[in-house]
Amino acid sequence: MTRLVVDPAFVVGALDRRLFGSFVEHMGRCVYTGIYEPGHPSADADGFRQDVLELVRELGVTAVRYPGGNFVSNYRWEDGVGPKEHRPRRLDLAWRAIESNQFGTDEFVAWARKAGVQPIWAVNLGTRGIRDAVNLLEYCNLPAGTALSDRRIANGSPEPHDIRIWCLGNEMDGPWQIGHKTAEEYARLAEETANALRRVDPGLELVACGSSNAGMPTFGEWERVVLERGYDLVDHISLHAYYEPKDGDQTSFLGCAEEMDRMISSVIATADHVKALKRSDKELTLSFDEWNVWRQQEFPGELGLDIREVGPLIEDTYTVDDAVVVGSLLITLLRHADRVKIACLAQLVNVIGPIRTEPGGRAWRQTIFYPFALTAQYAGPTVLQTAIAGGPDIETAAFGRIPALWSTATYDETTGETAIFVVNRSETDKIDLEVPVSGQLVRHLALYDEDRTAVNTADDPDRVQPRAVDTTAVVDGVCRATLPPASWHVIRLSS
Ligand code: AHR
Repeated sequence: MTRLVVDPAFVVGALDRRLFGSFVEHMGRCVYTGIYEPGHPSADADGFRQDVLELVRELGVTAVRYPGGNFVSNYRWEDGVGPKEHRPRRLDLAWRAIESNQFGTDEFVAWARKAGVQPIWAVNLGTRGIRDAVNLLEYCNLPAGTALSDRRIANGSPEPHDIRIWCLGNEMDGPWQIGHKTAEEYARLAEETANALRRVDPGLELVACGSSNAGMPTFGEWERVVLERGYDLVDHISLHAYYEPKDGDQTSFLGCAEEMDRMISSVIATADHVKALKRSDKELTLSFDEWNVWRQQEFPGELGLDIREVGPLIEDTYTVDDAVVVGSLLITLLRHADRVKIACLAQLVNVIGPIRTEPGGRAWRQTIFYPFALTAQYAGPTVLQTAIAGGPDIETAAFGRIPALWSTATYDETTGETAIFVVNRSETDKIDLEVPVSGQLVRHLALYDEDRTAVNTADDPDRVQPRAVDTTAVVDGVCRATLPPASWHVIRLSS
């Protein structure tokens, strides 16, 4: 028997709803035939697919980062505004595809408003710099009266776009990035850009680039150098991480939330070290603005010599296990809700996305859609600590011995509801869970399957779905539930 204890008195922090963000990059079919497809039967007058918009709303996404990703490091935002017939076709150096620029800044803001999400903007600090970032901000956020704000108005957007969150480049430490930099070079450019952007709009939230992943040789050192220079000018430091089963090691893969947990703790430690050095009162927060499962071992990396029209790229089809892992990564983000204020599931549609589409055809939910949607739906405003007693451990090659149970909980003072999010990471053993409670069970939903490799497809879009667990019950002040191997759960309780 495993006992899980939750008490509204033991608080991690307030949940920032931007933790349920996502990411749209001009990559593969995320934009074209993903969110935007004029001529599609469901497209509205703007060319936005309504079937996709409905799924985005159902997913519960709150904020979306745009336009990249590696794409942004060679992007000229001016190409994507104004009359569509005059927009140039350009070669995108990141993915070696022809970018038609039929979808750009104004379209994205219009789409974000329809989707009900807050836009997060990344500026090009790869092939461009301070002046272009300032120009873009002026175009987007100044009400009127300057050349660029008036140009936005002339282009059909009389109201400022009022974009509040700006990322200072993307993965600038990565040698694959066009215009990548040393930590010192980037730190100086980020500082200068932040300084300039704040002169246009002092109230922006700025995100400095952290490392591209925790495996980078400069991980930790990069963050230290960047923050020592820009600590006072930026609000967040970014983290990126993608997880996959390596060499068929599914056991470690199911435990990979451990890796995310350690990465977050390490970045917090660096940020707090710089804070102490600077004797600053300000607490820097984290933007985990790219995370997901991505089978990178299956991605050739080299894109070949042919320059292509935009087409399918990294359209991973997600399994039940992938969904359990995504659920466990969300649990990790919630466990750090005191410091992680923004997080973006990368990406939103088609490109390693929870939503998949056919060009001209159907749209459906991948397996990973469900833990995201249900966590976004049921997570309450306050994240609570959870304590576990008596649970089994699992032995992993990548992380050593780790607890099979991975959990977090939230509390909603207004409704009195507690939501427990929990994953059984064991591949072999079920867990009999006991939770002492003062109220009643509202509902227990779970995601698992006899066939852990099962997927959703266009022809069988509902093969994998969450299921209600009717055997869970509260008796004599204890909620008892059985968690099958490799399973994700949300258990809602009244007070
Ligand atoms: O999301 C796919 C790519 O992964 C992004 O373009 C880049 O930022 C990251 O390396």
